[in-house]
Amino acid sequence: MAVIALKCPDIEVAVVDISVPRIAAWNSDQLPIYEPGLDGVVKECRGRNLFFSTDVEKHVREADIVFVSVNTPTKTRGLGAGKAADLTYWESAARMIADVSKSDKIVVEKSTVPVKTAEAIEKILTHNSKGIKFQILSNPEFLAEGTAIQDLFNPDRVLIGGRETPEGNKAVQALKEVYAHWVPEERILTTNLWSAELSKLAANAFLAQRISSVNAMSALCEATGADVTEVSYAVGKDTRIGPKFLNASVGFGGSCFQKDILNLVYICECNGLPEVAEYWKQVIKINDYQKNRFVNRVVSSMFNTVSNKKIAILGFAFKKDTGDTRETPAIDVCKGLLGDKARLSIYDPQVTEDQVQRDLSMNKFDWDHPLHLQPMSPTTVKQVSCVWDAYEATKDAHGICILTEWDEFKKLDFKRIYDNMQKPAFVFDGRNIVNADELREIGFIVYSIGKPL
Ligand code: UGA
Repeated sequence: MAVIALKCPDIEVAVVDISVPRIAAWNSDQLPIYEPGLDGVVKECRGRNLFFSTDVEKHVREADIVFVSVNTPTKTRGLGAGKAADLTYWESAARMIADVSKSDKIVVEKSTVPVKTAEAIEKILTHNSKGIKFQILSNPEFLAEGTAIQDLFNPDRVLIGGRETPEGNKAVQALKEVYAHWVPEERILTTNLWSAELSKLAANAFLAQRISSVNAMSALCEATGADVTEVSYAVGKDTRIGPKFLNASVGFGGSCFQKDILNLVYICECNGLPEVAEYWKQVIKINDYQKNRFVNRVVSSMFNTVSNKKIAILGFAFKKDTGDTRETPAIDVCKGLLGDKARLSIYDPQVTEDQVQRDLSMNKFDWDHPLHLQPMSPTTVKQVSCVWDAYEATKDAHGICILTEWDEFKKLDFKRIYDNMQKPAFVFDGRNIVNADELREIGFIVYSIGKPL
């Protein structure tokens, strides 16, 4: 929304949320999320044509276009628990829009939702509308965290799905005009509603599948002596495959991939397509396997026990340039090591101790439920400490696990680190970012993903 405000000075954008502290943070100098470039965009537009407010109803009432970006967590109870998306927040947003509206509106699905959500939303809106006309559009977001601003400035495509009726087409055109302020016309794709909704789930499933494919190969590389970086380079040179998203890792994380695939699996099952569901499930299974494999490798190479050994965890966010820890592979790896009674010293340039403790005491799928956005007192995981320096984290450690590819980890003084560690000193590079040969020269025992020892 900040980028829309920046690129469309003629449009007034109001971002509303029921959370008072969150809106206060958006109105302060300390934005509630870390995203390179975002500060500058917000500063330029805030107070001009970008406003943050808790007066939800007023702004919705006044708007011509309402983007709904509420969260759609995975259901933890009832029908579809563990897979289906919970649309409670979406439904109450739709009811509120219907209640407060006094003029016709375009309602845009921005949150990732199961296919055919628009149909349910349409029913809620039209049955409560008192004669007001609503057009529902699906406009899924394809930005990635850490590069969000660049992705928004220069998107591969913008996708708008709408009803194939004259009113539907008119609404699609109206939204298209917003993006056309800065996105070339040929990159703005228009489809029917269901195609747009499904394309979002499909794109994430395809991306995650590439990572699981290369991670599956990494296991085979370790078993055979091939080098996964060489293999993915050679594979990616085929222009039909392409080089992006082929980096082997400790596993993918983030708030979207697993959730969207589980959702896709559920939709397949509901539509009587168990084989298709099974196919996509494997992407998640390989991701879980990769995280387990990493933990097993750490424990087995450190003489089958990490009990009471200090292990430094470098990086906790799910990828670099973000403080986001949702579904980060670091949670599973840390829990695995804690299960073997390791002592963990964690350093991530953007993640606080509070967040780490919270993540490590949470159950699966809890992260997406608002209860956990409130301050709470988690059971402190005693074997875990967080520090604000990689040298402090690694001091007296037996091993180092690199779990996020922060650029600063590439520039560490590994000789200094080695000198202050217990011997033998192990490095487990879950992101293949260090130069293993140089570290071996220093004296480290280095394990990379999918590479010979
Ligand atoms: C992902 C998609 O890339 C976006 O297009 C999409 O809009 C977004 O989800 C969403 O649905 O909101 P994001 O989760 O922010 O974006 O980050 P990615 O760059 O996709 O990374 C996801 C995970 O895969 C990270 O843990 C990353 O480290 C890992 N990854 C990525 C690999 O392990 N290897 C790779 O080659 C690439």
